[in-house]
Amino acid sequence: MTIRKAVMPVAGFGTRFLPVTRAVPKNLLPVFDRPSVHLCVEEAVSAGIEDIIFIVSEGQDGPISRYFGPQPGLENALASRNNVELLEQMREIAEMANVSCSIQNEQKGLGHAILMAREEVGDEAFAVFLPDDVIWADIPTIGEMIEVHGATGGNVVALEEVSDTDVPSKGIVAIKRISETRSRILDMVEKPALEDAPSNLAVVGRYVLTAEIFDTLQYTPAGALGEIQLTDAIARHIESPGVYGYHFGGEHQDVGNPLGALKASVTAALKRQDVADDLRAWLSGL
Ligand code: G1P
Repeated sequence: MTIRKAVMPVAGFGTRFLPVTRAVPKNLLPVFDRPSVHLCVEEAVSAGIEDIIFIVSEGQDGPISRYFGPQPGLENALASRNNVELLEQMREIAEMANVSCSIQNEQKGLGHAILMAREEVGDEAFAVFLPDDVIWADIPTIGEMIEVHGATGGNVVALEEVSDTDVPSKGIVAIKRISETRSRILDMVEKPALEDAPSNLAVVGRYVLTAEIFDTLQYTPAGALGEIQLTDAIARHIESPGVYGYHFGGEHQDVGNPLGALKASVTAALKRQDVADDLRAWLSGL
């Protein structure tokens, strides 16, 4: 089963990351030296995805398009300094995928943001990445989820166990376990009160969705926080064509807030041979 397109919603004020997000879009802030959108596009491309559709708010399309587009001035400067390695890396970023931006004029929730990609996606199944969620895994999560979609024909969400404190801010599911990594979803609730939550299993920002979701989203009323919730639309497909959970391995970090982003930067740097030893020595001296 091939999934060719991924939607990455990045509109939003980045309120958890103010004041820096007054001027810089949240998902362009560095996770060590590259933004989370870069990590997500890499994960998508590793699973065979070619087209990336960013959902941005007015004014954000410039920075995103610039990051993923060719930069002749920069490339000429690197070439004239004979910095071949960096030049190659910069060209690779511009060639990673076909990147486009759709504007979300009103902030009506995640479901509404996904609906903005309807025309670009058309009638094929597609992936969704929430770039606040960075997953460090040897086997790319989205690739495994595409396999689950291929085997079942259903919608697929990534799942992880969360603490009681986090339950009221997540999409929470009830499941029937199929195997170590797969489950069938029996119920989904967006941002439930802890006492109403069906479990501590939360949806993490990776989805594979069938195109029917667009029709459903169009008629999904506002839910939690008065917003059109993607979880509510997916829940309507629990019977048909079914919703499945993928219990991913590896480490998940929320880079949508300063502390999470700092931790992710440390994680990223510790994976880098050129700086890991230096960082480890500094950290152990704190
Ligand atoms: C969104 C989804 C939620 C999911 C979460 C994962 O919530 O609505 O179901 O658990 O992402 O990060 P948000 O963080 O946008 O409030």
